[in-house]
Amino acid sequence: VRKIGVLTSGGDAPGMNAAIRGVVRSALTEGLEVYGIYDGFLGLHQNRIERLNRTSVSDVINRGGTFLGSARFPEFADEKVREQAIQNLKMHGIDALVVIGGDGSFMGAKKLTEMGYPCIGLPGTIDNDVAGTDYTIGYMTALNTVIDAIDRLRDTSSSHQRISIVEVMGRHCGDLTLMASVAGGCEYIITPETGLDKDKLLSKIKEGIYKGKKHAIVAITELMTDVNELAKFIETETGRETRATILGHIQRGGQPGAFDRILASRMGAYAVDLLQQGEGGRCVGIQNDKMVHHDIIDAIENMKRPFRQDLYEVAEKLF
Ligand code: F6P
Repeated sequence: VRKIGVLTSGGDAPGMNAAIRGVVRSALTEGLEVYGIYDGFLGLHQNRIERLNRTSVSDVINRGGTFLGSARFPEFADEKVREQAIQNLKMHGIDALVVIGGDGSFMGAKKLTEMGYPCIGLPGTIDNDVAGTDYTIGYMTALNTVIDAIDRLRDTSSSHQRISIVEVMGRHCGDLTLMASVAGGCEYIITPETGLDKDKLLSKIKEGIYKGKKHAIVAITELMTDVNELAKFIETETGRETRATILGHIQRGGQPGAFDRILASRMGAYAVDLLQQGEGGRCVGIQNDKMVHHDIIDAIENMKRPFRQDLYEVAEKLF
């Protein structure tokens, strides 16, 4: 491998810039050429590719978002679109591609790999929904953002003796909701893994009121229900004022915390190590604080993220 490309794809995540920097600087240190691809697979298809040097990644380690830009590009599922992308890479003489993104982006990387073009996937998403890694880049920073929001909601719902419902991102993964609930002291946790049982939730809230709780915070993962409707239902059934707050894209922005900067730097450097060893078609992870890599096809098709039942049980005990 002499020339490598790097792109960020899917929803942005704090720490993506640090990951690009990790890839660029370590590749240059190894004597490789590096090319940045703008706006993910979309820019790859449109051939928006530029050579990067050490200063291209100056002053980005502390910045949220991704300076290369990102996009959702469902058209990449089309084989003809991917063939064009591979042709663009070959035209620049790029031998391998590092894809920083979530599960959708890994799917793109997997498909390129299956077509004989070597890719390395770095998990970058606030959702923490990628198999084969304990943490994804951006998750820990987003978690702190969510906790900060929950702390603020606690102040106001406690002052007004209200019930507060807070909708957290995560798509089909409850990690962000679960960990934020434990750290934020939420009374009720609803995630895709636990499911939503409205009657059970209601009886728990009533039990809390009976125990003398002055307010309550319900944390729920997005896409499960209409939280404003849920708030109306709880208010009607309990007689307690209830408000819903959708945290939304606030969760994706902001300066990456130390954990994500370090994780991204390690993963970026590790991706280059793997390419130097002739590895392709791998995805990088961190497990028990060690850098690991898995077959990208196997990771997408067969590996599952386990739900942290142990943490759910801790949260239940602290109710
Ligand atoms: O994957 C990250 C994420 O923020 C999810 O939590 C959320 O479901 C989705 O992206 C939102 O996507 P978009 O920014 O395209 O609306």
